[in-house]
Amino acid sequence: MKKGKQIYEGKAKILYQTDNPDILLQYFKDDATAFNAQKRGTIVNKGIVNNKVSEVLFKLVEGEGVKTHFLERISDREMLVKRLEILPLEVIMRNRVAGTMAKRYGLEEGIVLKQPVIEFSYKKDELGDPMVSIPHILALEWATQAEIDKVVDYSNRVNRALSRFFDDKGLILVDFKLEFGRHKGEILLGDEICQDTMRLWDKKTMKKMDKDRFRRDLGGVEEAYQEVCRLVCGE
Ligand code: TYD
Repeated sequence: MKKGKQIYEGKAKILYQTDNPDILLQYFKDDATAFNAQKRGTIVNKGIVNNKVSEVLFKLVEGEGVKTHFLERISDREMLVKRLEILPLEVIMRNRVAGTMAKRYGLEEGIVLKQPVIEFSYKKDELGDPMVSIPHILALEWATQAEIDKVVDYSNRVNRALSRFFDDKGLILVDFKLEFGRHKGEILLGDEICQDTMRLWDKKTMKKMDKDRFRRDLGGVEEAYQEVCRLVCGE
């Protein structure tokens, strides 16, 4: 597969064309941003870790009936993926209160939710990704009801599979973000699934093992990324 023209550069990844119009190459950078890119930095070897972790987790959720854009990891920082027309939505699943949810409702971080909560926000950096409801998504034609049903079903499957997987590794899956897109009329899970887009706490010590170490200047960022990578990849 030949690496073609760069078609998109995001905060953490770059997308390139390949010689197959249905397939893109996704390149993982070490650049880290937080708070809508107001905080910027580098996490050494984050791209390598996120590429490896995403491969393992995409394969895991495929086994649970979730169709994804993942095809193959081809190098340290590159994977081949199916080309998606991304829905302009961020889908957030929460098992415990943390981050924005704690702030929004004035709650302690760590409260276990009676049931998982799914939230949607409109992907629009200039607006700070505002939260939206399903009626907004339907009325603004960002997705159809059938697409939303698929997104909700897939998000629940991902949550069940990852919660179980991380629990076995001694980690609590607090929350995570997913993105979905259309490929040949079908909804697929896209983007990445890694420590940049999840909150993971050590079950015993409640130590934060994810991007919050960077967001909140907690130190030991690289070490936490490497540790989760070792646990996920079974090294
Ligand atoms: P959330 O608490 O909504 O926001 P923040 O991380 O700013 O406190 O985040 C919930 C989860 O979703 C968390 O694991 C981080 C992830 N997430 C992203 O990966 N990208 C995003 O743009 C947002 C808003 C959240």
